[in-house]
Amino acid sequence: MITKGTFPTDILEEFRTPLYYYNTELLRDTLDVVNNESKKYDHYHVHYAIKANANNNLLKIVRESGLGVDCVSGGEIQAALKAGFSSDKIVFAGVGKSDWEINLGLDNNIFCFNAESIPELEVINELAIAKGKTAAIALRINPNVAANTHHYITTGLKENKFGIDLSHLDHVIDVMTTLKNLKLIGLHFHIGSQILDMSDFEALCARINELQDQLDAKGVKLELINVGGGLGIDYEQPDQNPIPNFAPYFETFHKNLKMRAGQSLHFELGRSIICQCGSLITKVLYVKEGVNKKFAIVDAGMTDLIRPALYQAYHKIENITSEAEAEVYDVVGPICESSDIFGKDIELNKTKRGDIIALRSAGAYGEIMASQYNCRTLPAAYYSEDFL
Ligand code: LLP
Repeated sequence: MITKGTFPTDILEEFRTPLYYYNTELLRDTLDVVNNESKKYDHYHVHYAIKANANNNLLKIVRESGLGVDCVSGGEIQAALKAGFSSDKIVFAGVGKSDWEINLGLDNNIFCFNAESIPELEVINELAIAKGKTAAIALRINPNVAANTHHYITTGLKENKFGIDLSHLDHVIDVMTTLKNLKLIGLHFHIGSQILDMSDFEALCARINELQDQLDAKGVKLELINVGGGLGIDYEQPDQNPIPNFAPYFETFHKNLKMRAGQSLHFELGRSIICQCGSLITKVLYVKEGVNKKFAIVDAGMTDLIRPALYQAYHKIENITSEAEAEVYDVVGPICESSDIFGKDIELNKTKRGDIIALRSAGAYGEIMASQYNCRTLPAAYYSEDFL
């Protein structure tokens, strides 16, 4: 039996749990929609935000679809190159780039550095001089636009560490004219993640329009605008909404952003591309009777999927091997931390030792954020196309 989007449970005996299971067919379908919807506008370029999931097999599928890639570390650039992404489709962001990471980008002639401060620009310039190269730069601006999402994952507010404050932009551009091995090609923004309200992106567009007017007045010409990522997904109903709403997302920018002639618009989408295709599959070790509740103790923990513990994030939890009537459980992991809880008061089909539980919508910020705390083994990954 293959449960759509979850795991072929009949072959589970062979595998050690917990494990990540990826529905690669869904990933391919999602990428098709991303391409179809973004290509309605001929100057749109989508980069996959590799931070969401850098699993090499998945990266190859993303690369085959033609997307570029957005990296935030030297390790991510290496992972992208290993998966065959061409370096002229790599953008490199990050508030703290080390010299070796900048050099890696320069050596590979990446498309663009998204830079965030004057000291960083000075270092990129020096390293570029040493190599006799010119680095293309998009300045990451902190647009001071609030996104309706969890406070840990909003990034575009004044108090966040990211980006150049709007009031400093003029000065930064003046300094850049003295840094001869840098070429200013664009502006970069990112307001947060898991955003479902398109009015947040409208607000971003309004801010970019204002800025472009100011820069026109200053005579600054830009080749590109990069609006980052952040489109959210339906964690509550992954089966009803396996593919996020890309059409209104791209349309929002088309309707609200005033592009200049010849400018291209770049996106860095992570979660929306990779999230729904992944599930964390775990086995029930024990069902323990508490005083007022029952605990389903599973073999996956916060080391395998940290989002519930770190952000109180919701993941749909299903018992995929039981048909029995539902009962209420706290679903918890084996890690020695009280925060190692996947869900409280969750309705699951009556659960017993050995049952298989799927934690859904775990393709983004799941496997990549796994740790070995408690000396645990990192979870393995399996792909639906291997079971056809
Ligand atoms: N571009 C930049 C500059 C970013 O900082 C991010 C995400 C993205 C693109 C991709 O955003 P997405 O399309 O995936 O929303 N670990 C958290 C999410 C952190 C997001 C960090 N930045 C979570 O598990 O929800």
